[in-house]
Amino acid sequence: MEIHIRKSDLVSEKSDVLVLGVTQGKQHFTETNASQKINELLGDVLTQIAKEESFVGKANQTLWARTGHSFGTKRVLLVGLGKAEELDLEAVRQASAIALSTIKQTTAKTACFLLFGESLDVKDRTQATIEGMRLSDYTYSRYKKEKKVSLKSIDLLVLDGRDLVAARKGIEVAEQFVKGTLFARDLVNTPGLHMSPSHLVDEAKRIVKEQKQLQIRVFGEAQLGKMGAGGILGVSQGSVHDSYLVHMTYKPAGKTKKRIAIIGKGVTFDSGGLSLKPADYMMTMKCDMAGAADVLGVFSVIAAIAPKVEVHGIFAAVENMPSGNALRPGDVIEMMNKKTVEVLNTDAEGRLILADALVYATKQKPDVMIDLATLTGACVVALGEEVTGVMSNTPALSNAILNAAASAGEKMWELPLEKRYQKLVKGDIADLKNIAGRWGGALTAGLFLQEFVDKTPWAHLDIAGPAFAERDYSPYEKKGATGHGVRTLLKYLLSF
Ligand code: BES
Ligand code: ZN
Ligand code: ZN
Repeated sequence: MEIHIRKSDLVSEKSDVLVLGVTQGKQHFTETNASQKINELLGDVLTQIAKEESFVGKANQTLWARTGHSFGTKRVLLVGLGKAEELDLEAVRQASAIALSTIKQTTAKTACFLLFGESLDVKDRTQATIEGMRLSDYTYSRYKKEKKVSLKSIDLLVLDGRDLVAARKGIEVAEQFVKGTLFARDLVNTPGLHMSPSHLVDEAKRIVKEQKQLQIRVFGEAQLGKMGAGGILGVSQGSVHDSYLVHMTYKPAGKTKKRIAIIGKGVTFDSGGLSLKPADYMMTMKCDMAGAADVLGVFSVIAAIAPKVEVHGIFAAVENMPSGNALRPGDVIEMMNKKTVEVLNTDAEGRLILADALVYATKQKPDVMIDLATLTGACVVALGEEVTGVMSNTPALSNAILNAAASAGEKMWELPLEKRYQKLVKGDIADLKNIAGRWGGALTAGLFLQEFVDKTPWAHLDIAGPAFAERDYSPYEKKGATGHGVRTLLKYLLSF
């Protein structure tokens, strides 16, 4: 699907459909004076149909109108944007997604959209429009014989030619944000059969090769042994697949003093190990490498996005399986920073591999570390399926991440690294234990990780709920992998 932008007077448009945004609560229901003009040209037809169909411009409401011969386009689609005073970028994303899915149910091949959200910044609303369209247009079709086809082309329209420069910039950024997100979705949707740890490594090598300014180091099991990565090796013990630690580096063209590390959990399948998961809970556990997929998603577009900071992308890739070689509940392992851990539940494996990855990351002396992990069911209990839990030892960092998330349209909320609960992760016969009782499971997992970050400003994003949608979360986050996290990270990296 091609998307272009140009100046238009709307009246002479020739596409199959013309889409207009409508905000709720204004006297006239169309959003712009131009669409008012169209209404007049059509003999007030839009107002009449709207009345008949009780269309008032509520968020996600749609209304079709036929134009007859008086007009270039055959059909007009009105899309509700919600209340004018509540209009934000997320409303634009959702309306764009709804409009596209509505058009896809017809025989239309081409469509033009008058850019939504007049009151918002041109670049930002163009970016949001493209994100909404492309993210909703995604399907994972690797194993489908019959591939779905989309529209041929979409033209975004502005009425004022002076908006074109900013809008084009918005398209450029959006296409990269989308590419990174969809790459992460593809990785997460791929079943464990075809997404083993070595597959993740191959993907990392491929994207590093495709871009300038990138380097990669891959540590296999022999090296991990020398490095003392007892967490990664311990979790991997039961699997027939080898485990890896991957370290990608992006260096910006200009000089920079800032160094950001992003770290992902890459459990390509989480059976629980000997603390085996019940069948129902295991069904979606191919998603347990979503943190690593987010890191790869960011790195897949990092040269094009060109942040001004040095970025280190690190992930541990392992499979968590039961077998005669698997870690036993009660076993004690030694981590990369020499701390010992009693593994009382082999299903709390994410914190074990992340701990080593975090220790490795601190050795790169970053100014900031951000990890992403489908870490705990408890976080989903606390915040529901659609909201990420953010924990951080540095308030300014969690604020920056929450801001980036809000503008990216990804739902996140802060949880405390409560000192009082630190005692809950202390071990009986080792320094630490990997489970901490029934309550506050997202927090105690975060506190466990904190034992491995030293004093480095660090934030932990528990994406267990949002990473994989078990039903449609929004018009552009449908059932399956969401790529949640990629756009927040990109936005954060671009804030420097
Ligand atoms: N990968 C799971 C967490 C998870 C749950 C991700 C639901 C996505 C959706 C993690 O490894 C896990 O199993 N955690 C356990 C920890 C417990 C044993 C302390 C959990 O949350 O039940
Ligand atoms: Zn687990
Ligand atoms: Zn897991």
